[in-house]
Amino acid sequence: MKPLIEVKNLHVTIHPYQAVRGVSFTLYEGEKLGIVGESGCGKTILMKTLLRLLPSNATIDSGEIIYQSQDLCQLCEKQLQKIRGKEIGMIFQDPMTALNPTMKIGAQIAEGYLQHFPSATSHSAKMRALELLIQVGVPDPELRLEQYPHLLSGGLRQRALIALALAAEPQVLIADEPTTALDVTIQAQILHLLRDLQQNKSTLLITHDLSLIASFCDRVLVMYAGQIVEEALVEDLFAHPQHPYTERLLQSIPRIDQKLEKLIPIPGTPPDLSTPPSGCSFCPRCPKAFDICHSTTPPLFSSKTHSARCWLKEEKS
Ligand SMILES: Nc1ncnc2c1ncn2[C@@H]1O[C@H](COP(=O)(O)OP(=O)(O)OP(=O)(O)O)[C@@H](O)[C@H]1O
Ligand code: SF4
Ligand SMILES: [Mg+2]
Repeated sequence: MKPLIEVKNLHVTIHPYQAVRGVSFTLYEGEKLGIVGESGCGKTILMKTLLRLLPSNATIDSGEIIYQSQDLCQLCEKQLQKIRGKEIGMIFQDPMTALNPTMKIGAQIAEGYLQHFPSATSHSAKMRALELLIQVGVPDPELRLEQYPHLLSGGLRQRALIALALAAEPQVLIADEPTTALDVTIQAQILHLLRDLQQNKSTLLITHDLSLIASFCDRVLVMYAGQIVEEALVEDLFAHPQHPYTERLLQSIPRIDQKLEKLIPIPGTPPDLSTPPSGCSFCPRCPKAFDICHSTTPPLFSSKTHSARCWLKEEKS
């Protein structure tokens, strides 16, 4: 598989928080890559950095995001506008703020379509909007087409947002918690749809839900406190987690082969990233911590398909 996006040693500060701390990863052509981690670990900020849609109090301190031989960190707004939507699309985590409250749903999707396919007629754009609403399972699609976002439930807004992102037919789709507001059956339908529509394209799926990762992704990155702490093929991660944080994450989700009382929550909280710790970020919560963990940040120890940011991995290698 060919690399499509290469993120190299990216550091992003949302003053005063060091939200992304030295993240490197590659998204390959056609790959479904998952990013999982606790709330606040930097998943959304990392994805917004790829599109350079950061809040005004954020700065990219260093690093590169290579896409089609250009560094997205160096592009001007005009160049970025050509990439956003059509090349790299995003389903945002918060549907209410991502939809325009003053425009009807159908007009928003049609506008998105026309922006990227300017030779299309307004009628065909409206038909495409209708088709997309049907594809994402919106009931009464003709009616919804003519409604404003505030008239839709959270679940319907989320589906409208998915339709909006898909209208541009992006090469890379970033889906940030795309199914959180939806019930389990609709979640499965939407993921199925994303898989179908993005079949030969790349998708980055951000979620708290490891079961979604298991059913959708080829490979997964585990984030903790602004860093990638484990990277593996999905089946390897579930079968042989190498980082104690991943082990705890897996123990804290319900499994069909396990009694509910065996679920173990992860005690403690992530570190304050306005002054990141000098040792391993997971150290205060890690049952396996030993001397060096307190003083020195572990690097990402890598093997061919599985890497982990943990000193235990050094002992084994
Ligand atoms: N607009 C902002 N202003 C200040 N701090 C922010 C802003 N957006 C995010 N942050 C901070 O940056 C850090 C990373 O946030 P981010 O939204 O990327 O987390 P996340 O992993 O996506 O969490 P969640 O799973 O809850 O969506 C958090 O500490 C958060 O409080
Ligand atoms: S480096 Fe040490 S503290 Fe960090 S996860 Fe590994 S064992 Fe735990
Ligand atoms: Mg988020």
